[in-house]
Amino acid sequence: MELKGRGILITGASRGLGRALALALGRRGARLALVARREEPLTELVDALRRDGVEAHVLVGDVGDKEAIEPLVGEARALVGPIDVLINNASTLGPTPLRPLLDTECEELTRVLEVNLVGPFRLTKAVGGSMAVRGEGIVVNISSDAAVEAYPTWGSYGVAKAALDHLTRIWAAEVEGVRFWSIDPGEMDTAMHAAALPDADPATLRRPEAVAEAIVARLVDARRTSGSRFDALDGVRAEVA
Ligand SMILES: NC(=O)c1ccc[n+]([C@@H]2O[C@H](COP(=O)([O-])OP(=O)(O)OC[C@H]3O[C@@H](n4cnc5c(N)ncnc54)[C@H](OP(=O)(O)O)[C@@H]3O)[C@@H](O)[C@H]2O)c1
Repeated sequence: MELKGRGILITGASRGLGRALALALGRRGARLALVARREEPLTELVDALRRDGVEAHVLVGDVGDKEAIEPLVGEARALVGPIDVLINNASTLGPTPLRPLLDTECEELTRVLEVNLVGPFRLTKAVGGSMAVRGEGIVVNISSDAAVEAYPTWGSYGVAKAALDHLTRIWAAEVEGVRFWSIDPGEMDTAMHAAALPDADPATLRRPEAVAEAIVARLVDARRTSGSRFDALDGVRAEVA
C-alpha cells in the first residue's frame, strides 16, 4: 500500500512502539490520528511531527472506554479522512508486579480484556465497514508471544492477546477486501517491558524504532495473507541494539 496521504489511526501512540510507528509512518507522508490517554506526551509528539511537515493530530481517549470509541473514530475521520490503516497498539498489562491468576481480581481481568481485546474490536467495527465498502484497508493488531506461551503471572494479558489473535483470524474470514494481521513485535525496550520485567537488560531487547520500520515495510508490501500472525521482524534482519 502506498502510504502517502493515507489516513492512519494508531492507538497507544505517545510512547514505545506506537510513537515509533507514528514517526516512521509520518516520514512516509501518512496523515496521522494518534490516540493515548494522556495529552501532554501526545502533544509533544504531534508538535515534533508537525515541525517536520507531517500531518498529525492528538486524540485523547481510553480505548477501554466504550463511550470513547465512536467519538475517537469520528474525530479521526474528520481530521485525516477515511481510515486506511488502523493499528491497535495500545495495551495494558494489568496491575504490576504481575501476579498469578489465583491472585487476580475478576475486575482486573475485565479491565485488561476491555483495553486489549474489546477496544480493538470496537475500533475495528467502527472503521471496518467503510474499509470493506472501499475494498481496501489494513487492520494491525499488535500481539505478543504471551498469546501463545503460557507464562506464569501473564494470565490476563496473555488471554487477551490470544483472543486478539483469534479475533484477527475471524475478521479475516468474514470481511473481504480488508487485511487483518496480528503482529508480534517481540520483546522491546519500552516502558511496558520495564514495568513487567524491571531486571531485563535493555541491550537484549529490540528497539521499537527497528520494529516500527519492519511493520511499515509490511504495510508497504501488503503481501501477507489476511488473518495471518507473524513476528514483526520475520524476513527482516533482526536488529536488537
Ligand atoms: N514492550 C514489549 O516488550 C512488548 C512485547 C510484546 C508485545 N508488546 C505489545 O506492543 C504494544 C506496544 O507496547 P509498548 O511496549 O510500546 O507499550 P508502552 O511503552 O507501555 O506504551 C503504551 C502506549 O499505549 C497508551 N495506552 C495505554 N493504555 C491505553 C488505553 N487504555 N487507551 C489508550 N491508550 C493507552 C500509552 O499512553 P497513555 O498511558 O497516556 O494512555 C502509551 O502511548 C502493546 O500492544 C504491547 O502489548 C510489547
